Amino acid sequence: MSTRPPPPACPSSGIDLWSDSVLADPYPTYAQLRELGAVVRLERHGLYALTRYEAVRAALTDWQTFSSAAGNCVEPAANAQQGASILSTDPPAHAEHRRTLAAQLSARSLAAEATWIERTARASADRVAGRASFDVVADLARPYALAVLGDLVGLGDGDREPLPAWSERAFNAFGPAGERFTGALPAVADLMGHAAAMAEPGRTCPGTRGAELVEGGRAMEIVNYTWPGLATTIDAIASAVHLFARHPEQWDLVRGDPSLVPSAFEEVLRLHAPIHCFTRLTTAPALVEGVEVPAGSRVLVLYGSANRDERRYPEPDRFDVTRDPTDHLAFGRGVHLCPGMNLARLEAHALLTALAERVEGFAPVGEAEWMPNSVLHGLRTATVTPTPAA
Ligand code: HEM
Repeated sequence: MSTRPPPPACPSSGIDLWSDSVLADPYPTYAQLRELGAVVRLERHGLYALTRYEAVRAALTDWQTFSSAAGNCVEPAANAQQGASILSTDPPAHAEHRRTLAAQLSARSLAAEATWIERTARASADRVAGRASFDVVADLARPYALAVLGDLVGLGDGDREPLPAWSERAFNAFGPAGERFTGALPAVADLMGHAAAMAEPGRTCPGTRGAELVEGGRAMEIVNYTWPGLATTIDAIASAVHLFARHPEQWDLVRGDPSLVPSAFEEVLRLHAPIHCFTRLTTAPALVEGVEVPAGSRVLVLYGSANRDERRYPEPDRFDVTRDPTDHLAFGRGVHLCPGMNLARLEAHALLTALAERVEGFAPVGEAEWMPNSVLHGLRTATVTPTPAA
């Protein structure tokens, strides 16, 4: 009689994935975890972390086993309170949460907005190109992303200003308990209150995405723009300029051949995934590269680590605008694939193209500082000196 050998035990690690030092530069820790295994038990957090590209992609495309319906947070109490949202439902309920947003953000629907978004991008690039120096977050990425999203949703000036800070802080609600988590809760309430207030007649500009949602009795879905749509895009754009300041030869390539802009932006997203992690709950025992994860396990999906997997991307820490890594996982995969990715790409392509026409190079000034956020990875501040193009 033959008996099947038991699956190998899951490797484990005592690392604190949310310490300030890891959050400031998580990549060496991710490399260690990937070396340990495709799935690693994080003892301090009671989680199974998916670390390698293939494991993360497989989980994201298997919603039946890696379910979102019991929440996407690390903290059990937060999962209990998350309620049914676009992010925290599985098919078929998920489709109803997603339908209107997906139509509003389809590439076809956004094509009609390209002209004014490109105009906004040129104005933003003009504002920084001639300056002695500027902060890539405060002076460029944040005002630009807010202008585009605010106009698209049809928000008045007073109704948009606080949104980037709320969006950034609210993401900490997906992380572990502690100061950052506690600080996120008022921001979540502010975002929800904001969306509810937009239902008042005259609060959103007629003919915009926001007005359409209000008219359809779906004002609360405005939060699907204001929460996931701001901090992520700001981080991506700021990371792009930061990377070009540190790799001038890559900026020269883009300026020499602007058709590289889309590939360059995908490479930025691969290197610095703005959302590093969310969680899933296993509904059944799952085999991850031969290792069994029991049913009912809270699983951390590490997009940020998958994108640096040396098994998928040769020299994964190297910034190479010609790599064109369109298979990266920064926008997720499967049923929850980011519906805002067309907008994020349109915005970033327009801005990088406008900058390439106006700026010969960016010189870094001082040290850049990354923000400590439990889920996002983005810059708090980074100053550069632009050299205007001749
Ligand atoms: C560079 C910018 C962005 C990045 C990196 C990003 C990343 C992501 C990721 C990784 C997910 C998948 C979550 C999961 O697997 O559970 C997601 C979902 C989502 N994103 Fe984005 N996002 C970006 C921009 C946007 C924008 C501009 C919007 C809206 C205007 C948006 C709205 C959403 C929504 C509503 C979901 C939930 C979709 C669902 O659960 O079906 N995102 N995003």
